[in-house]
Amino acid sequence: MSEPTTIRYERADDGVVTLVLDDPRQSANTMNNAFKASLTAVADRLEAERESVRGVIVTSAKKTFFAGGDLRELIAVTPADAQRVFDAGLAVKRDLRRIETLGVPVVAALGGAALGGGYEIALACHHRIALDAPGSKIGLPEVTLGLLPGGGGVTRAVRLLGITDALLKVLLQGTQYAPRRALEAGLVDEVVTDAGDMLARARAFIDAHPESRQPWDEKGYRIPGGTPASPRFAANLPAFPATLRKQTGGAPYPAPRAILAAAVEGSQVDFETAQVIEARYFTELVTGQTAKNMIQAFFFDLQAVNAGRSRPEGIAPRTVRKVAVLGAGMMGAGIAYACARAGIEVVLKDVSAENAAKGKAYSEGLLAKALARGRTTEAERDELLARITPTADAADLAGCDAVIEAVFEDPALKHKVFQEVQHVVAPDALLCSNTSTLPITQLAEGVERPADFVGLHFFSPVDKMPLVEIIKGERTGDEALARAFDLVRQIRKTPVVVGDSRGFFTSRVIGRFINEGVAMLAEGVPAASVEQAAAQAGYPAKVLSLMDELTLTLPRRIREETRRATEEAGGVWEPHPADEVIDRMVEEFGRTGRSGGAGFYDYVDGERAGLWPGLAEHFGRGGDPSGIPFEDLKERMLFSEALDAVRCLEEGVLSSVADANIGSVLGIGFPGWTGGVLQYVNGYEGGLPGFLARARELRAAYGERFAPPALLVEKAEKGETFTD
Ligand code: NAI
Repeated sequence: MSEPTTIRYERADDGVVTLVLDDPRQSANTMNNAFKASLTAVADRLEAERESVRGVIVTSAKKTFFAGGDLRELIAVTPADAQRVFDAGLAVKRDLRRIETLGVPVVAALGGAALGGGYEIALACHHRIALDAPGSKIGLPEVTLGLLPGGGGVTRAVRLLGITDALLKVLLQGTQYAPRRALEAGLVDEVVTDAGDMLARARAFIDAHPESRQPWDEKGYRIPGGTPASPRFAANLPAFPATLRKQTGGAPYPAPRAILAAAVEGSQVDFETAQVIEARYFTELVTGQTAKNMIQAFFFDLQAVNAGRSRPEGIAPRTVRKVAVLGAGMMGAGIAYACARAGIEVVLKDVSAENAAKGKAYSEGLLAKALARGRTTEAERDELLARITPTADAADLAGCDAVIEAVFEDPALKHKVFQEVQHVVAPDALLCSNTSTLPITQLAEGVERPADFVGLHFFSPVDKMPLVEIIKGERTGDEALARAFDLVRQIRKTPVVVGDSRGFFTSRVIGRFINEGVAMLAEGVPAASVEQAAAQAGYPAKVLSLMDELTLTLPRRIREETRRATEEAGGVWEPHPADEVIDRMVEEFGRTGRSGGAGFYDYVDGERAGLWPGLAEHFGRGGDPSGIPFEDLKERMLFSEALDAVRCLEEGVLSSVADANIGSVLGIGFPGWTGGVLQYVNGYEGGLPGFLARARELRAAYGERFAPPALLVEKAEKGETFTD
């Protein structure tokens, strides 16, 4: 079957050929088989017509210039496909190279986002013009999906920018630049504000540079800044592993390492050999498990979650115009900012006008910083601030179509504030609580319209954290759930939907991680090893430092409440080995965490000053090494969370695998290389049966909390994985 043409070849009378990327079967252009075939055909034709071609413009008929690799294809690649992937990669590179070395000027006219493969095509052109359109992004973000730019991106970025800038500005972080910033960073050569100008500018370049070629194809070309073989450069080389370590924390992220190796090795050889080296590393990454985990989570799951996988169907979307934020403390102030940034009018209420004003001042602070960094304008700042009305008067909440409550964590107080406002706001206003621990069903008892009551759990700091957990109480209606979902999307955050349970999903699961780390102290594991294990497993926050931030009194309070509720419901309360450590820290040593001036760490002037030396003396076996394998320390942390996520699925607290994966990575720092709590189970060596066998080992060695839930056993036996 012949593939459709995805690149239109438009030849003008003056000999300029415009290649229009336009896949007729898809809304976006991707590196699929049809595209590869078209690319070869185009390169053939250009070579055949070379004598009469004066220049080439590469542009796109889609909103996005080119979307890059077809991730559906890439995620399905297995180690058995390695040779095929390697060959196919080289074929694309060869075709791009043929166009690059045609001997006529080739210009990229980037009318929309050019990320990954899109920017790689642009790199193969001699001149890059970008349209400064809103949402247009330029860069090579492959690393964020566990990959490297395998379409010549590493080879050319190194030659265009020099190895240091290529690695630090483009390749290792996967930074996505707005067109103007891309210009500053040297990724593009021109930025235009009018789409109509773009093709005219491209023609102007062709007219002015009839003999154009790439700098690296000029005689005597040297990579800017030198190569690792040059003495000047060699002095800087040791900085790279340190950068890498900082980025990955020693966790198993193969992509940054592969990118570094491909860049360094590739810089010391000729262009063609560098492309082969790049293809080899790309193949290794794409056939490995980490890229699959990351593509699954950060592309497919994220897309499904944001598209409304967990939003009740058949309910018309609604937008919020005016929101009441109750409580202008740390969370309320952050929520007010996030809402105002999205264009929503905010009435920010606290007990006093001073408190409310202080809450608004938080937005002023954030905006001052953004202004200093050139991320906002004075006009935008003023508009945003004008949307926030601080008040102590409930009457000001009239007309609000949503309420987000963020007062102290006290059920009686929360009931009281809802009673105060429920008749002032719009009669059908959505009612949300930002509680982090109190059951939503119970809080809903305090309002007259429990069907409109929902949990909306933000994470701190609200302006940075991308996730919001929506909690469905027993009486929450579908309409309220859909409206809460729409509100979270309106403020440009990612919503996951979970059922009512102690700690919902995120707080409950992260509690397992913290308890597991603390329990290790009681077993004689040195505190430094506990922290190292968390870092090497890939957690962004180490376990004991995280506990200090959250305060040691918090788990004690939650534990007491949970114990009481469990016993009242006739259940059996199971203590955790971490309990004793936390109790003694607080009761015997008065160490309650950072805010109290001392916790697992010592603090000097509020700054962390090292682990408390008393830990070895007072806990475990007085510093006697435990002999527990380091691998077990890491896996106990990961397994404690993953097993609890399976239990959440079993209990109906979670109804979607995508929500679990995204919620765990974006909300509570479950390591990104795993692709999230349930993808970690799927991707574990040996799949679900492998994970199950390992859970049984951990159970035998460390206790019942590692007992595999029935759902895991069942799925492993049936040969299934966790999917939606
Ligand atoms: P906070 O102590 O910083 O702020 C609470 C604010 O509520 C104070 O400004 C207080 O004056 C105000 N307030 C008290 N009574 C009020 C009333 N009757 N009317 C209006 N305002 C009143 O507390 P924070 O940290 O902002 O937490 C607020 C809520 O958010 C709590 O339910 C907490 O569990 C939850 N939460 C906290 C997170 C955190 O990281 N701190 C994360 C997610 C949720």
